[in-house]
Amino acid sequence: MAFHSLPISFFSVLILFFIPITCAIPFIVLHGIGDQCSNRGMKQFTESLGDFSGSKGYCVEIGDGTWDSWFKPLQEQTEIVCDKVKKMKALSEGYNIVGLSQGNLIGRGVVEFCDGGPPVKNFISLGGPHAGTASVPLCGSGILCIIADNLIKSEIYSDYIQDHLAPSGYLKFPNDIPKYLEKCKFLPKLNNELPGQRNNTYKERFSSLQNLVLIMFEDDNVLIPKETSWFGYYPDGAFNPVLPPQQTKLYTEDWIGLKSLDEAGRVRYIKVAGGHLKISNADMKKYVVPYLRDRKLVKDNMERGNNGRADSLIYRVTQSNKKTKGMKKLDKATSELIFDGSLSYKWPSSVKSFIAEILDVPESEANSQSRH
Ligand SMILES: *[C@@H]1O[C@H](CO)[C@@H](O)[C@H](O)[C@H]1NC(C)=O
Repeated sequence: MAFHSLPISFFSVLILFFIPITCAIPFIVLHGIGDQCSNRGMKQFTESLGDFSGSKGYCVEIGDGTWDSWFKPLQEQTEIVCDKVKKMKALSEGYNIVGLSQGNLIGRGVVEFCDGGPPVKNFISLGGPHAGTASVPLCGSGILCIIADNLIKSEIYSDYIQDHLAPSGYLKFPNDIPKYLEKCKFLPKLNNELPGQRNNTYKERFSSLQNLVLIMFEDDNVLIPKETSWFGYYPDGAFNPVLPPQQTKLYTEDWIGLKSLDEAGRVRYIKVAGGHLKISNADMKKYVVPYLRDRKLVKDNMERGNNGRADSLIYRVTQSNKKTKGMKKLDKATSELIFDGSLSYKWPSSVKSFIAEILDVPESEANSQSRH
């Protein structure tokens, strides 16, 4: 008997040593435009993911949140997160990123540009405008469409807008690609789109991810086209058809390593029901949580699969201003469990007047249009 107990206790010691090191990879959450970590929605999102996965999660804030998410250029936002993750001791052995909408571009910026940052293992993207978007986010209610119109008509690629309006860093109008490549300051660099300026370091870093999970929302009407969540986009020069990721030049010429990752079986293209960033608890458990857990647990969780209707708390961060009839129905079906992050904050009026000012929209008009 003594003969058997020795190896067992030897293994117990080994297990005690190794388990804590291998299973507790923390994650960070990068919120979308107009949101902030202190909002109830973001708190709950981060906490739920932490509870479900057993991993520690941190919502990483940029400046004051809402305001800076709109008006700080994405390069600067990326640098702020880069500095923060380098200082966070908990992340030093590596971490996972959960990106929401615009936060995905910042997260990818951190993966590609952050010299000396801790290694990023898994990247889970919810509704990220990875290949750009042909519309200002949130367009759909009065003021926002005024902005969009104004931007499209004139100034979007001007230095001033590029330096003062974050989304201008990933607005990509397929009918104006030369100007986009010349003037847009963030996405062309992030996607290694500029011939002659492609940086292989970005590609090496991005393609060293363990898993890239790209979640598209079936009824996303914030991202145009919604396939941008998968790196799908319009061809240069036309608004149709939407090319699947595998037919874009970013992929075929492997500018950032997406093709390499894909061929290594490390990209998941996921489509879920719902509008922009509206994810059910069940889908979160199925598609997000497994990557935040210890790898060994992934299979187990996949097998357990869907947790059923009673569990389908809807998480909604933001921003889609227009509720479609379909969405209303869904809201009703899960009314007791609905979670609507957009209720937890309001646009500061200063944001509206700033936009009105830089775009030369009369403020009275902006205000009257913005009520909904
Ligand atoms: C490519 O990016 C890396 C990391 O940021 C940087 O150190 C290097 O100087 C860049 N190379 C070129 C040619 O710009």
